[in-house]
Amino acid sequence: MYSKDDFIAVFDSGVGGISVLRQLVKLLPAENYLYYGDSANAPYGTRSTEEVRNLTLAAVRMLTSRYPVKALVVACNTATSAAIRQLREAYPDLIVIGIEPALKLAADHHPGGSIGVMATDVTLREEKFDTLLHRFDGSRTIYKIPAPGLVELIEAGQGDSEQTRTLLRRLLAPYVGKLDALVLGCTHYPFVRRRIAEILGPGTEILHGGQGTARETKRRLEAAGLLRQGRGQVLMKNSDTNPKLAALARQLLNMEEEKDQLGGHSNG
Ligand code: DGL
Repeated sequence: MYSKDDFIAVFDSGVGGISVLRQLVKLLPAENYLYYGDSANAPYGTRSTEEVRNLTLAAVRMLTSRYPVKALVVACNTATSAAIRQLREAYPDLIVIGIEPALKLAADHHPGGSIGVMATDVTLREEKFDTLLHRFDGSRTIYKIPAPGLVELIEAGQGDSEQTRTLLRRLLAPYVGKLDALVLGCTHYPFVRRRIAEILGPGTEILHGGQGTARETKRRLEAAGLLRQGRGQVLMKNSDTNPKLAALARQLLNMEEEKDQLGGHSNG
């Protein structure tokens, strides 16, 4: 049996899922959170699907065996596309919530428009993404935009560096003036959202799935009668024990919230 006081475990390949954790804490401040980043094995996005699946299952096994967990939020698009089905099979009684690129939201906001989806190689090549793409008719142009190297820079605390700006300028140059919306399909990318907005300009709406995932978590806990009251706590853990990473994680969690709309969608 689960208790209201049990943790909501939030998992990512590294510090990226903190962009989802921020939305969760904002919406459900009374909950107890256990954040786990697998930075020792990041990035996941360049690995084989099987490797991502095994790493994800191993991390979740470790979390659920060591801590009381009432819900699992896979705050990683890459891990969701590689392992969400296996997680649901392995933990049939647990509330398991994944995240997928907020393409539906972008398509609703921009009927007939051009939409870019920036995500890792694994997310863009997996069947789950193709299924998502096929839900939309041909009246929209959808560009797949991989961003190799970006997760590594964010993990190294270099999100605001000149190197990151240069990389983003190079990646996004072909799309300047062409996109009605850009979906951030990797939970690391919201941490460089402002840099992306500077390059694409005000004509491109930038969306990610963090807020939608938090809303879905609330719905599921409410339905199960597992919402907590009072004041919650956030426990941060990482497979890489370098203190610099712990400091980065805290900094990202407390980073001033961006003013722009953070819409989103989760796959429930
Ligand atoms: N943050 C993860 C995501 O949402 C992936 C980053 C990685 O490549 O490890 O896809």
